[in-house]
Amino acid sequence: MLDVTGLQKIYRGKERDVEAVRDLTFRLAEGELACLVGPSGCGKTTLLKCIAGLMEPTSGTVRLAGRDVTGPPPDMAVVFQEYGRSLFPWLTVRGNVELPLKEKKLPKERRAALVAESLEAVGLADAAGAYPWQLSGGMQQRVAIARAIAYEPRVLLMDEPFAAVDAQTRADLEDLIRTLWHRFSMTVLFVTHDIDEAVYLGQRVLVLSSSPTVIQDDVAVDLPDERDQLTTRADPRFTELRGRVYAEIQNAKRGTAAATTD
Ligand SMILES: Nc1ncnc2c1ncn2[C@@H]1O[C@H](COP(=O)(O)OP(=O)(O)O)[C@@H](O)[C@H]1O
Ligand SMILES: [Mg+2]
Repeated sequence: MLDVTGLQKIYRGKERDVEAVRDLTFRLAEGELACLVGPSGCGKTTLLKCIAGLMEPTSGTVRLAGRDVTGPPPDMAVVFQEYGRSLFPWLTVRGNVELPLKEKKLPKERRAALVAESLEAVGLADAAGAYPWQLSGGMQQRVAIARAIAYEPRVLLMDEPFAAVDAQTRADLEDLIRTLWHRFSMTVLFVTHDIDEAVYLGQRVLVLSSSPTVIQDDVAVDLPDERDQLTTRADPRFTELRGRVYAEIQNAKRGTAAATTD
């Protein structure tokens, strides 16, 4: 579904150039939920912007369902970290979720049905008439998620979407993502700097090195598909996997290659 090959991004500056991303190659199968984890400043947002067609890579290619990405693809939605800035304060929750559907030129009845379904899916059916600033941070982030899924994307990109919400809300939102992924069978690429979150959510964790960035490791998360915050996080296999991801991030900082023993 998503094919990233030899992606490199150099930011050109007056004083000096910054090679944020050196060489990234990976593929996501249709319907996969993969997490991308790496230290801050390693180029996660840069990579997502290139995948979303918002920024041109210096070299390398991004292909979505076999087509080169050269601008924002119609079947992709992105949820950014700063939900506060991503919602329009003068539009209601309903208006915010509906806006991209208007841009997609969907008929009124279809828009209403999609808005209702997605708000119901994130547990905000009752808040449709509220304004974003009347909601808590976690609720605002759920509005941003509802807006993304109402769009019916085949691929959903999320850039550290829960970094600014409290721990309890974050746990609820993590479970929401897995529920929505099962329900709408999208391909999801979820970016986080949180190792536990990556292992809890993903079927697979791509570990990035620090900048200039390469893929340090690609870990299959062989935990049961049914996950819940208590049982999954207490599973010895969960501890093993987070240990491995943690070790790879440490190796990345030291510039050692990924372990190839398993
Ligand atoms: N617009 C830009 N111009 C110059 N350098 C940038 C720009 N955006 C990001 N960078 C640099 O690229 C590197 C990766 O940034 P970013 O993709 O935001 O990392 P992350 O999302 O992993 O924290 C950092 O060193 C950052 O300073
Ligand atoms: Mg970032």
